[in-house]
Amino acid sequence: RQARHIQQTLAEFRLSKTQLLEVKKRMRVEIERGLKKDSHEEATVKMLPTFVRSTPDGTENGDFLALDLGGTNFRVLLVKIRSGKRRSVEMHNKIYAIPIEVMQGTGEELFDHIVYCISDFLDYMGMKSARLPLGFTFSFPCHQTSLDAGILVTWTKGFKATDCEGEDVVELLRDAIKRKEEFELDVVAIVNDTVGTMMTCAYEEPTCEVGLIAGTGSNACYMEEARNIEIVEGNAGRMCVNMEWGAFGDNGCLDDIRTIYDQAVDENSLNEGKQRYEKMCSGMYLGEIVRQILIDLTKRGFLFRGQISETLKTRGIFETKFLSQIESDRLALLQVRAILQQLGLDSTCDDSIIVKEVCGTVSRRAAQICGAGMAAVVDKIRENRKLEHLDVTVGVDGTLYKLHPHFNRIFQQTVKELSPKCNVTFLLSEDGSGKGAALITAVGCRQREQEA
Ligand code: BG6
Ligand code: GLC
Repeated sequence: RQARHIQQTLAEFRLSKTQLLEVKKRMRVEIERGLKKDSHEEATVKMLPTFVRSTPDGTENGDFLALDLGGTNFRVLLVKIRSGKRRSVEMHNKIYAIPIEVMQGTGEELFDHIVYCISDFLDYMGMKSARLPLGFTFSFPCHQTSLDAGILVTWTKGFKATDCEGEDVVELLRDAIKRKEEFELDVVAIVNDTVGTMMTCAYEEPTCEVGLIAGTGSNACYMEEARNIEIVEGNAGRMCVNMEWGAFGDNGCLDDIRTIYDQAVDENSLNEGKQRYEKMCSGMYLGEIVRQILIDLTKRGFLFRGQISETLKTRGIFETKFLSQIESDRLALLQVRAILQQLGLDSTCDDSIIVKEVCGTVSRRAAQICGAGMAAVVDKIRENRKLEHLDVTVGVDGTLYKLHPHFNRIFQQTVKELSPKCNVTFLLSEDGSGKGAALITAVGCRQREQEA
């Protein structure tokens, strides 16, 4: 009887192919809304223009600084790109912590901290006086009017610094550099992490025209026909669009597949009502969904002897790395229990079986709906080009994709099933998105020279 109740609870997370095709179809509807001038304002999937008009062609050249803010790690990088026959990229980077008080303090504190890290990095590299061009990977939704202007639409994930939303983030960075009075830098480009990832991968593989992040957050970008991006003038060629698909569902269009646990996760978050799709499929929230289910099963007496421990009440305990360990098929149940023990959860053998099944069910749904979103994207590109069949490469990054034992397989399988007319290859970014940001900065510098 107990087993039946648990299965009933999990059944809501098990989506049929028909349901997934429906998710794909709805994503397509939202894509069109975001692209059209009349509906762009109120669209949930924003389809933000990036002013990146082509993928790298090997002529990029120079030394650049890059920042990478918004994923698990904040990084400052020096990227040396050489063009020509023996083209190459050399990178040096350093990871810095961003304390939660800084993520959620004032905007000035956040940007002062960023500039402090740049200063430390320049000292470390011994190049304080260099005045290099800089590419800023900033993994949040920004309204861009050029390569080097981006107004923050809204914070997402774990960030909530004051006085930044509605402001041009490039200006905030420039102001902080001025405040420091230590060095000069030329901020040339602001880049979403999806775009940086696509560019990193496209440098090695020219058929790469899509970028995906399945990490702390979830998002994608792709090369769209300029004529379809109605809010940008000009119809020739293509431009990369940062979809901001994490906000898919914010108008209620996914309500039929959202469960009471998804709602609880949303209510407990820093941005209630926002990023509903992201909250169903990205690393920052999967553990929270699991936790909500476990709390409910415990309350109903099916788990942990009916005792809700303080640990289980703690937000964020199930990080992606723990879910990945729990779901690893190489772990024996005894080891699963050891992990739960580490987290402060006393479990019986039966408990550990249930926990593992809950984790598996939640991450499978995540991979599937993420795959349904990607299927909509590749089919859109195929239709844009009036092709019966499309071959395309997707550049991918993110801890969920890289660390989780099943996510990437289920994701890829779903894309294949839901977009049979596309042959999609997935390429992991080994270098993060800083390299891509530097490549975009190189193109930006060249454009400036041509304009001058
Ligand atoms: C990194 C990229 O490798 O992946 C970042 O360089 C990106 O730009 C990150 O934000 C996403 O993954 P996660 O899991 O760290 O959010
Ligand atoms: C969030 C951000 C988006 C970013 C994604 C992955 O969804 O809004 O800009 O690309 O996380 O890091």
